Amino acid sequence: MTMTMRKILKLETFLLKLETPFMQSDRHLVNIALIGFMGTGKTSVGRLVADQLHFEYLDTDELIQTQTGRTITEIFAMDGEPVFRALEQKIVEELASRVKTVIATGGGLPVNPNNLASLKAHALVVSLWSSPEKIWERVRHQSHRPLLHDENPQAKIRELLAAREPFYKQADVLLNTDVRSVREVAQQVVHQFRLETSSRR
Ligand code: S3P
Repeated sequence: MTMTMRKILKLETFLLKLETPFMQSDRHLVNIALIGFMGTGKTSVGRLVADQLHFEYLDTDELIQTQTGRTITEIFAMDGEPVFRALEQKIVEELASRVKTVIATGGGLPVNPNNLASLKAHALVVSLWSSPEKIWERVRHQSHRPLLHDENPQAKIRELLAAREPFYKQADVLLNTDVRSVREVAQQVVHQFRLETSSRR
């Protein structure tokens, strides 16, 4: 393990300790929500966590596509981003009645404070973090993300990631996925969820 990786892990442990005591006690944590930038592993981690906890797995983008009968790319192209963001908020509101569900969210969803507040009422919110380089490595051969249909997608990733960082950091738990396998990240999520839910009983 390199010095940088050790530093990142140390910082994460510190952040986990820092976050937990401040969690509001009026929250009813029956679900897990994964937030984070595109390509940070929300889908693969979410599926694994759901398997391990025997929870249902849902993805906000998939729900939007099912409800509208259109792909995310089509919605962006035909109606524009504001319409997509309104659909996202509606889905988040509907998710408030769920239990035992792992919810993987679209990368821009936590930028809307209503979404984060709504998720926090019923879910442990876990943010998956990655460096712009690692994100690019993971998304470069995929074409289904309209925001990356850009002349310079790498610059776009850096710009969006920097702008969204303050929102991702409002999660209950922050996990760096650059230095861990999908399995390790999933284990951490399950561990944090068990820790939080057992200390509240
Ligand atoms: C978006 C991320 C995508 C999808 C849409 C917009 C974003 O989800 O919601 O393309 O604003 O970052 P993933 O994070 O699952 O790729």
